Amino acid sequence: IKTALTAGPLAGKHILVTSGPTHEPIDPVRYIANRSSGAQGTALAAALRDLGANVTFITGPASVPAPTGVTVVRVETAVQMLAAVQSALPADAAIFVAAVADWRVANAAASKLKKDGSGKAPPLEFTENPDILATLSKMGAGRPTLVVGFAAETDNVLAHATAKRLRKGCDWIVANDVSPERGIMGGTENAVTLITDAGSDVWPRLPKSQVARRLAAKIADTLRG
Ligand code: CTP
Ligand code: CA
Repeated sequence: IKTALTAGPLAGKHILVTSGPTHEPIDPVRYIANRSSGAQGTALAAALRDLGANVTFITGPASVPAPTGVTVVRVETAVQMLAAVQSALPADAAIFVAAVADWRVANAAASKLKKDGSGKAPPLEFTENPDILATLSKMGAGRPTLVVGFAAETDNVLAHATAKRLRKGCDWIVANDVSPERGIMGGTENAVTLITDAGSDVWPRLPKSQVARRLAAKIADTLRG
């Protein structure tokens, strides 16, 4: 049994995976979120585990259950997710599948907002969240050997994702087209293009579990040199 648990091409490797949406509070009972189910990140964590990796799975409030056999760290907000990622280091690879909210409410209320009878909505102010992927990509000493981002786009997918890889400084970007008519967000399949310094590779539309296995196998090949 010991051999079965420790075998595999990723045995001895520590890999971080972020997954799910983040929730950004407006007040104690309301939040801003997005449509990520956490399905692709969960499938990837399971596939990496199956190849023998020691996986730390840092997840926002997802609608699918976290995988078994990994270390699960649950967070709500982007700021908490960054802190959890930093405390989980060092890692051999970090894969950022989470759909992190780009903005949080700067003037979140400490108690529940109430209608004041004027008919006016409360003015919400927004501030940009930290970019977790870019922070890790550019951290210098202690940077994971392989840093991978996902890029959810609805138009000009390849161009936007290629620019995003360079801007953030990650090694690979997994680009996916999340236009509503393709049914990727919240669905069971994904159609991705893997962008590396060697160019772009268009994968067929596959179940998220198979996208995960294929990506995990490529990560194992790369970490083994
Ligand atoms: N990401 C992150 N922290 C953020 C925003 C994004 O770690 N605050 C990561 C995501 O997990 C993903 C990658 O960055 O791996 C790209 O996310 P995306 O939302 O596509 O990129 P943004 O830079 O936020 O650009 P956009 O304006 O297109 O949303
Ligand atoms: Ca974003």
